[in-house]
Amino acid sequence: MFCEDNSDNIDVTVKQWLELSKAAKIAFSKAYAPYSDFKVGAAALTTDNKIVQGCNVENASYGLTVCAERNCIAHGVIANRSNKTVKFTALVIYTAQEKLTPPCGACRQVISEFFHSAAIVMATNHLIEQKKWTVSQLLPDAFTPDSLLDKT
Ligand code: THU
Repeated sequence: MFCEDNSDNIDVTVKQWLELSKAAKIAFSKAYAPYSDFKVGAAALTTDNKIVQGCNVENASYGLTVCAERNCIAHGVIANRSNKTVKFTALVIYTAQEKLTPPCGACRQVISEFFHSAAIVMATNHLIEQKKWTVSQLLPDAFTPDSLLDKT
């Protein structure tokens, strides 16, 4: 059964933000984006302090492209060794764009599934600019696993 654990500590240290940014930049270098030439890297911190990475993986069909954020979350699901659902405390999105890249709508929905609503998502770039949002700022009133618990 789904279980939202609101007791998770979502505090992230400066050192962890730095490590996440580095990991997202490395993931960016692995992006497979021959069609858009818009490379994206992501890195997320799990509640048990592990960093997982993802990059965008495009496809000749275009529509089957998967974003860096969703691949990162899938990586966390696969790497999870506990018998509890994996949860994340922070996400960094790295691009080499002058305009920072926020997560797309589909990714916001998937982020809301696995992150606390108060967890922070940060976009950063090659100029070391940064912008932060909470998950609930990115997707207010999200439909989450909790929504299914209220069914009548
Ligand atoms: N993309 C991501 O990986 N994450 C986002 O949040 C925005 C878009 C990817 C998908 C596609 O490969 C490329 O960026 C252009 O849309």
